[in-house]
Amino acid sequence: MFCRYRRPLLLRSVCKCRAVLTCFLGLAVALASCQAHAQTPSGLELLGRGVNFGNMLEVPRDANWGVTYAEDYPRLVKSAGFDTVRIPVRWSAWTDARPPYQIAPEFMKRVRRIVDACLDQGLKVVLNIHHFEELFERPADERQRFLAIWKQLAVEYSQAGDDLFFEFLNEPHQNLTADLWNPLFAECLAEVRKLHPQRWVVVGPDHWSNIQALKDLKLPEQDRRLIVTVHYYLPFNFTHQGASWVTPVLPTGLEWTGSQTEMSALRKDLEMVADWAKQHKRPMYIGEFGAYESADLNSRVRWTRSVREVCEELGMAWGYWELAAGFGIMDPQSRQWKPELVRALLPNFQ
Ligand code: GLC
Repeated sequence: MFCRYRRPLLLRSVCKCRAVLTCFLGLAVALASCQAHAQTPSGLELLGRGVNFGNMLEVPRDANWGVTYAEDYPRLVKSAGFDTVRIPVRWSAWTDARPPYQIAPEFMKRVRRIVDACLDQGLKVVLNIHHFEELFERPADERQRFLAIWKQLAVEYSQAGDDLFFEFLNEPHQNLTADLWNPLFAECLAEVRKLHPQRWVVVGPDHWSNIQALKDLKLPEQDRRLIVTVHYYLPFNFTHQGASWVTPVLPTGLEWTGSQTEMSALRKDLEMVADWAKQHKRPMYIGEFGAYESADLNSRVRWTRSVREVCEELGMAWGYWELAAGFGIMDPQSRQWKPELVRALLPNFQ
């Protein structure tokens, strides 16, 4: 009897073949997408949770912005549960004024000791050029110095392991517009790649690495070891209230309650960033975000937690701005953590 659930032999073997083929194809597609995924890890997989050593090495020569690096910072940061430290450095203040623009050897050593101390703790390190004001003012005159700094850093760190990440320039802006920044980045990358063919390099768009400027960032397509970064300080009148370096100084007293309107604005911004990353197959890193101490603590905690949670949900790495100055999560004198803020970043922090 011909069971209605059974098919004629020929049909059955065709079906079997087709099933095997479908299965095989399915496997191939799954493997390919796995491979594509392996080629583009998420920002979160690469850099995880981080904090900036801000106001330490990016200050003008001999200036003090309220915090000096202390030997136990790497250990404290690691034991709190962070994965990564971003180290902003004002290299331009420590180079000769003329070619070959040598970096002062004692400063090179000072930074190297800090980088090594972090790496020795098992932290990842993002090393950048920060506050290169002359380049932002006069890009044409200063491009050789910019390239010369990276040539020297490439040599200095030629033996470093994969846990060291280079970020060529913090927040390009002013006269260093996208049409100048994109080719300058590519030129610098070609130079650095000679000694660091595999190292992950972090790059942000012009306009202070604002999220809206992502659309103008043009990267060398074939280089798949680039992490894209943007900085997130929105709403700016909340995060920068009372900050002395903003003109005019923004009024204090503005809260961030985490209302539905506030949350959906935040989510919309970060989803836009994550969509860009997905579309361009680039890992994404929110290398700076934070709210200044003039805002009330509860609002800062709510905002910080929300940004952090949404970033992680979207697979983006983050670096809180910053450790122990005006946005800080630690008291620089007592080395005591500010527990509410740290917990907003690291939910398992004790
Ligand atoms: C940028 C600036 C830094 C400032 C921070 C917050 O990174 O370079 O100096 O503190 O944003 O405004």
